[in-house]
Amino acid sequence: MTRRQPTRRQSKPQQRAAPAAALLGWYDAHARILPWRVGPAERRRGTKPDPYAVWLSEIMLQQTTVATVTPRYRQFLERWPTIADLAAAPLDAVLAEWAGLGYYARARNLHKCALAVVADHGGEFPDTEEALKTLPGIGQYTAAAIAAIAFDRRAVVIDGNIERVVSRYFAIETPLPASKPEIRDRAEAFWPQARSGDFAQALMDLGSGVCAPRGPKCDACPLNEGCAGRAKDLQNALPRKVKKQPKPTRYGAVYVLVNATGSVLFERRPEAGLLGGMLGLPGGDWTPITPEGGLDDAPARTRWERVGEARHTFTHFHLVLEVFAGRTRRAERAGEIWLAPADAALPTVMKKALAVFLDGEGAQQNLFRARK
Ligand code: ADE
Repeated sequence: MTRRQPTRRQSKPQQRAAPAAALLGWYDAHARILPWRVGPAERRRGTKPDPYAVWLSEIMLQQTTVATVTPRYRQFLERWPTIADLAAAPLDAVLAEWAGLGYYARARNLHKCALAVVADHGGEFPDTEEALKTLPGIGQYTAAAIAAIAFDRRAVVIDGNIERVVSRYFAIETPLPASKPEIRDRAEAFWPQARSGDFAQALMDLGSGVCAPRGPKCDACPLNEGCAGRAKDLQNALPRKVKKQPKPTRYGAVYVLVNATGSVLFERRPEAGLLGGMLGLPGGDWTPITPEGGLDDAPARTRWERVGEARHTFTHFHLVLEVFAGRTRRAERAGEIWLAPADAALPTVMKKALAVFLDGEGAQQNLFRARK
């Protein structure tokens, strides 16, 4: 007698159907309204997303919140409505528009990618994960997100929110990052053939609002019945994570040099490295020990006053910058960048440092009074 093999007989698409259908039904009713999104109802009516808009939003959303990105995305699209407009823009204008969104390598790659799409793909984004991955700044996640959301390809999209949903749904106990391959395998197995883009966005919405990092709202979750994490009461404990090393702190100094017209001296940071190509205040290296305070890196000989310190946290370290201010009567030299503080498009860390000076009433007034 041959034994029946019920699991074999169930085809893969059938196995996929239950959670996918539940989640897509939930998405139809609860999808967030986001400026880059073609919602489920509109999609059903045949509206297709603009791949340029999808790509732009995905790049902006890397490491940056939906709330921060929303107004910046709108402004960006208004300024450069098509990929050809963006490709034709000067890199400096793109970097300036990016100011405050962090990780300037992304803005550089954004521009490079626009140039490549125009030059090599006739101004149209390619529609497969593989081809998308060959473009500057498009890695595995972004390629899958664009393929799924813009072209409805069955591409398995895994970001932090999706990692959490999948870890909980399948009660994956291996800590991150070692669990990543298992998360991918599980996601691959339950990813539907149809409505792949909606499914990806449904998982993102579920992870951000319902299957939240702390205090998941399991009662409101369309996947609660099949959720192994919830069945084991592990929803708050998953995903497990290997304890992170504490971030080191680096120290540095920056100098706010004010001239007779009230302009401040800025410098363009080197292309390679953190904040590459962005404007910054002059200053020395950022090192693991507190600087001696020798003012060796100061951009002019003047009476420097320490006006405070600025603190900023990057992905891999905390930074403490001592802020010095001084004034000069010397003429501007060729190649120097002197700007009114309000005209400088600065990355956040430099905005903070400049604000230490501008907000320090005493220092500011002393400097400005003295020049009269
Ligand atoms: N986070 C990253 N991409 C997103 C998207 N397309 N919708 C919502 N949140 C996101």
